[in-house]
Amino acid sequence: MSTDAQHPAQHLAQHPARVVQLGGLMPFVREWLSERYAAPVLADLDDPAGVEVAVVGGGAPAGAAEMDALPDLRAIVNFGVGYDNVDVAEARRRGIVVSNTPDVLTDAVADLAAFLVVDVLRGITAADRFVRSGAWARGEQVPLTRDVRGAVVGVLGLGRIGTAAAQRLEAFGAVVHYHSRSPKDVVWTYHPNAGELAAASDVLVVLTPGGAGTDGLVDASVLDALGPDGYLVNVARGSVVDEEALVAALEEGRIAGAGLDVFADEPHVPAALLERDDVVLLPHVGSATVQTREAMGRLVLDNVDAFLERGELVTPVG
Ligand code: 8YV
Repeated sequence: MSTDAQHPAQHLAQHPARVVQLGGLMPFVREWLSERYAAPVLADLDDPAGVEVAVVGGGAPAGAAEMDALPDLRAIVNFGVGYDNVDVAEARRRGIVVSNTPDVLTDAVADLAAFLVVDVLRGITAADRFVRSGAWARGEQVPLTRDVRGAVVGVLGLGRIGTAAAQRLEAFGAVVHYHSRSPKDVVWTYHPNAGELAAASDVLVVLTPGGAGTDGLVDASVLDALGPDGYLVNVARGSVVDEEALVAALEEGRIAGAGLDVFADEPHVPAALLERDDVVLLPHVGSATVQTREAMGRLVLDNVDAFLERGELVTPVG
């Protein structure tokens, strides 16, 4: 990560003891928080009095237990656009505000969604495994794949990232359909629910938020609607897909394959998926570029600064 003159930690220990680190933060973010605010991790905090801001990331929990441990907490700053790890209702009840990191990761995550769509259709990583295994050298034939041009890509959740992914896939000649809570002012074809979208799609791309509202939304019936020639791509949250139903659908040939960047119990991936050649498995890397993660880190610091200086967050949620 950058250590140049623009290093966000340039004002060292400006706000000591008013910021604490919860779990799941990348080492460079932890370093920035330590240098800028002398922010300890919760477990090392001697005295919680006066701690007003907690920074959390990587899906680590910020719930009632963490709030109980910090009686003066007023803000939770999340490293990540998704904040299903934060109990926002409980925070609101206690007058604690919450921020996330929107926009700065839209392009990176949309890129990865589009890459996975292209990969499941064109079998890129499977073909890489084919070469490495020596199968090509042995004279075996790699299976023919499917064109992206003309494929119907169903975007489930047409928010910022869903829209950016759809634009990328249109450039490949895919036909975009979508479902979101209400129709948007776009040229793409709207479906009133996930099942009808899946039925119309060659590739269903999950881009909804996680949390209670979408838990298990892609269930056995949605996978069956997608059908034996259909692929599932998920770069949102593992919780949106019924993982057991997904494994069963793959094993029974009820869908054609999947491209997955997120899982129900990360970093654990169901053993049955590890064996399969019709799935692409990634370790939750949608936003994992140097530039994007650094931008997320800066937005975290901007939120902490704004809260400590003015009592306001730059990118509050809800
Ligand atoms: C990160 C993410 O992997 O922003 C999100 O919601 O899932 C990813 O960008 C994660 O939040 C990093 O802590």
